[in-house]
Amino acid sequence: MAAEGRAIGRKDGKVVFVDYATPGDVVNVQTITNKKDYAIASIINIQQAAPYRIQPVCEHFGTCGGCRWQHIPYQQQLHFKQQLVEEAFQRIGHLKHPAIKPIIGAPDVYSYRNKMEYTFSNRAWLTQEQINSGEDFDRRALGFHVPGRFDGIMQINKCHLQEDIGNQIRNFIYSFATSHQFSFYDVKNHGGLLRNLILRNNIAGEWMVILSFGESDENKMFQLLDAIKAHFPQIISLNYVVNTKKNDTLYDQDIINYWGVAYLTEQLGELKYKIGPKSFFQTNSKQAKNLYDIVKNMATIHPDDIVYDLYTGTGTIALYVAQTAKKVIGIETVEEAIVDANFNMELNQIQNAKFVAAPVENILDEEFILQHGKPEVVITDPPRAGMHEKVIEVLLKAAPQQIVYVSCNPATQARDLNLLSEKYDILEVQPVDMFPNTFHIENVVNLKLKNED
Ligand SMILES: C[S@@+](CC[C@H](N)C(=O)[O-])C[C@H]1O[C@@H](n2cnc3c(N)ncnc32)[C@H](O)[C@@H]1O
Repeated sequence: MAAEGRAIGRKDGKVVFVDYATPGDVVNVQTITNKKDYAIASIINIQQAAPYRIQPVCEHFGTCGGCRWQHIPYQQQLHFKQQLVEEAFQRIGHLKHPAIKPIIGAPDVYSYRNKMEYTFSNRAWLTQEQINSGEDFDRRALGFHVPGRFDGIMQINKCHLQEDIGNQIRNFIYSFATSHQFSFYDVKNHGGLLRNLILRNNIAGEWMVILSFGESDENKMFQLLDAIKAHFPQIISLNYVVNTKKNDTLYDQDIINYWGVAYLTEQLGELKYKIGPKSFFQTNSKQAKNLYDIVKNMATIHPDDIVYDLYTGTGTIALYVAQTAKKVIGIETVEEAIVDANFNMELNQIQNAKFVAAPVENILDEEFILQHGKPEVVITDPPRAGMHEKVIEVLLKAAPQQIVYVSCNPATQARDLNLLSEKYDILEVQPVDMFPNTFHIENVVNLKLKNED
């Protein structure tokens, strides 16, 4: 199994990466990309299935790019993820490290996501089978982008990633909109009433709905919002936005709270976190708590210690460990996330955290450290690209006693750890599975400053 979730096969000595296959399958494939050193291919048919192969639960498997590993039993998925961490550490990082701890599986293999984003389209994507059938299909869709197609939206009847009430809300909106002849968005001509739908929920079972409209027609918009409100008592936050821009992003838009509260609250351990319509929050809440517990247990924080939490998002990890430290400094580039971090700090009556909005590589330098104090412990949780080289240089100079490195991309993590190995030993490596049925891997590494003598 290769990173990015494709299985590796060989044909005439050439490496072929195959989507939706698994080691042990014998498959006939069609080449999609043919390069000098490798090819990418998709399955035409399976001659002989790997003995452990299972039937995917989802009717949309294979077209929707979401859960690409459903044909692999969960224990086997975990085994592949563990292997991929080991490979990255050896091949990319050339790292010396103790045995990688067994990956921690997620409590829920399905229904684990707390946020889903759907798109409306007046030109639904049809599968080859649908096209071949010659039947007439309703081209109005509410669903996901087909991988690699900005204009291809496939109708979703049931998604297994979020609690089923999410399916009920989405299907209700679709039926209401189609039966009332509300227009669905046309991405080529930039028109149409219904544009995007975001559903968020918390562990307590409360829901937030955000409907994005492509044009303003209050009569129709409020009719739909009222119907949603009347049907789903689980919804405690109902919001909408009129987005007439060319792109779908809502970060620069005013989201209007139509009914109920303006945000959900999630409880992880002893802490409460605000989840607003635009907030970033780990999408698997139950496993996020486990991840934060791992980080907290790994970090050896004394009451007099200063802790930095780099790439802090809405301050979740910083606040999770704040109680054990003298002071925690969180740095994050998204200003709105820092607003949430400060809100979360007050919500939890924490007084010893400070949040700074800036790219870490621009702000973390000797002067910053002089101003805020030298950290004994640094926690870092960068995006997939990993840490900027400048950040690693500053860390090597500042030489905190411990670095806890949380990563969602073992390849860039291995690269960064190689640079850090100049001064740091790897004490522990703990993969955690945040995203069952996908190839994504989260990995936590405990680094200790080497003894100078
Ligand atoms: C993997 S998330 C971690 C969030 C947080 N630790 C959590 O558990 O919720 C990475 C965060 O880094 C932020 N980010 C990306 N590039 C950044 C940069 N150059 N400087 C600071 N923050 C950055 C993203 O906005 C995102 O919030």
